[in-house]
Amino acid sequence: MDVLVVGGTGFIGSRLSRTLHEQGHSVTALSRSPGDEPLPDGIRTVAGDVTEYDSIESAFAGQDAVVNLVALSPLFTPAGGNEQHERVHLGGTRNVVRAVEAHDVERLIQLSALGADPDGATAYIRAKGAAERVVQEAALDWVIVRPSVVFGDGGEFIPFTKLLTTPYLTGLPGGGATMFQPIWVGDLVSMLVDAVEDDRHVGSVYELGGPDTLTLADVAKQVYHTEGRPCFVLPIPMAVARLGLTVGEKLPGFPMGADQFRSLQFDNTVSENDIEAFGQRPSNLRTLEGYLTERSAAADAKARSSWMALSTLALFGLLGGGWLLPTVVDIYSYGGLPRLAFLPSYLVSILTYDGGLGLERVASALAPAAPVDGGTLWTVGLFLTFYLVAVLSTWFGRRLRVTAVSIQSDGDRPGQDGESV
Ligand SMILES: NC(=O)c1ccc[n+]([C@@H]2O[C@H](COP(=O)([O-])OP(=O)(O)OC[C@H]3O[C@@H](n4cnc5c(N)ncnc54)[C@H](OP(=O)(O)O)[C@@H]3O)[C@@H](O)[C@H]2O)c1
Repeated sequence: MDVLVVGGTGFIGSRLSRTLHEQGHSVTALSRSPGDEPLPDGIRTVAGDVTEYDSIESAFAGQDAVVNLVALSPLFTPAGGNEQHERVHLGGTRNVVRAVEAHDVERLIQLSALGADPDGATAYIRAKGAAERVVQEAALDWVIVRPSVVFGDGGEFIPFTKLLTTPYLTGLPGGGATMFQPIWVGDLVSMLVDAVEDDRHVGSVYELGGPDTLTLADVAKQVYHTEGRPCFVLPIPMAVARLGLTVGEKLPGFPMGADQFRSLQFDNTVSENDIEAFGQRPSNLRTLEGYLTERSAAADAKARSSWMALSTLALFGLLGGGWLLPTVVDIYSYGGLPRLAFLPSYLVSILTYDGGLGLERVASALAPAAPVDGGTLWTVGLFLTFYLVAVLSTWFGRRLRVTAVSIQSDGDRPGQDGESV
């Protein structure tokens, strides 16, 4: 199929574009600055702004399906204020629907959000709700997907949790009791691919959540726990949080406001988990805790492998230095300088020197009548030693890399789209 992924360079969109491409679809990713995201060759990228119809319209020609993932984050006040949600989520969706209809594209998959409601409590939720109405009233085959928070490499949920909290002891509004049902981006993307391909989903509004229901405090604890640090949560009274965010909103450049406070008052969980419509069960889905644990194991393996690379370099340096220093000393201070100061480097050189001496002994035992020049054997010994170290360090490096890669691919689940940690 020809699939246009609007917002195809974002967190979910880039992953969806890659997976669709890997599964043989012809993919076009549209965003304002598509050049910023390295997508694989074979995925066409188009620059366009959904708030300007003329800039996006031509990308819809010849497409079989469109997925609309354009987003402004609800976690922060957008640059330009909360009215941007209406301009981008609602106005942008109107333009997408208009272009879909103009080019007779068969199917539109709209990424919405849990709780989307034209009369909702925040500008984001209202714009998402109104955009859903626009899609539902259009003359086309639509599927609406409302996920809970999505986690994975490149997502903002975990960095945002870390921004809000500190390890060991942290304060959270209301003790961090707001509930979430985090879903892994790879699991969500496989369901989105199904929504693109399978006619059974047409006309459905799906609420999708992950396998666990967690409070914000649980999430913070899991994040720090996998880093080996505890996190005790102290409740901040909601009234204090409301005052702080409402006053903060008035300050120039303050990133959050009353909407972020309001969104803490509503749980981000599904009323009924629709993952079964995609043949999934909660036990098949990746948990946040599993993801965090695998991510930290992969990071450890990476650190170990960098440490090994450094220590191998140091070994080379030591051996090289061990050879060079005495030679330099021999040349420049023959018979003069007390050699004792260079004892450590001599010790190292003995290790390698012995190779040369050994060779000399073997050669003279084999051919006593034709003694081989000791200096030549000494040099051969040096090269043999370096060769041995190079072979050993390459072997070590490969083994470590294999360990790191296997931990990483486990983490990314082979068969689903994966990224490095
Ligand atoms: N991530 C979550 O936890 C989560 C949870 C629930 C629902 N969702 C929904 O899932 C969808 C995707 O979210 P995401 O996390 O992948 O968002 P994201 O990482 O912020 O990606 C947004 C994409 O939209 C593009 N974009 C933004 N403004 C645009 C404009 N005016 N015109 C054209 N393209 C524009 C961005 O690229 P440029 O900046 O280059 O234009 C980017 O490719 C959104 O609808 C979001 O509301 C996400």
